[in-house]
Amino acid sequence: MPSGYDIILVLKVAVSAVTLLLAASLIALWTGQVRLHGRLNLLFFVLTMTAVLAFEILLRIGPYIEPGWAVTNGWTPFHRQVLRVHLCFVIPLLLVMPLMLLTGLKHWRRIHLPLAVVFALLWLGMLVTGIGLLPHAPTDALNP
Ligand code: HEM
Repeated sequence: MPSGYDIILVLKVAVSAVTLLLAASLIALWTGQVRLHGRLNLLFFVLTMTAVLAFEILLRIGPYIEPGWAVTNGWTPFHRQVLRVHLCFVIPLLLVMPLMLLTGLKHWRRIHLPLAVVFALLWLGMLVTGIGLLPHAPTDALNP
């Protein structure tokens, strides 16, 4: 099994990539290309959900392939706490993202726009705690 650090590194790259896609969709919206905004966000949704699903499967099958394996092996108590906070953003996002897609596709603007504020705050919290604080290398390597 790859180490938890390697998995976190791959996820950081993947989340950065879909965030660029999200940014592109907002630029499309800004320039009046609403359909492009929708297309880019459909791609954003599918890619993000695929990454979450793949990560979840890996977490479940990991200990069967390598007994004792866990993504948090070797993590400090601080990083374990960060993961708990990170999940406080990720879990609501899994609910809000399908709602964003649905309300966008249905053109339910009065729900889509206020929900966009909630979505943006959750995404930002997920980025800061995930990309900013979760460990992609052993603590010794991060603070030599
Ligand atoms: C984060 C900030 C976002 C803002 C400010 C925003 C805003 C908007 C606005 C103003 C529209 C046009 C609504 C209308 O009058 O029909 C729209 C459409 C749409 N949005 Fe968003 N949106 C955001 C994020 C998202 C996300 C995260 C998704 C999907 C996961 C999404 C999916 C869609 C879709 C599918 C449409 C329909 C596009 C079409 O007409 O083909 N949006 N959005």
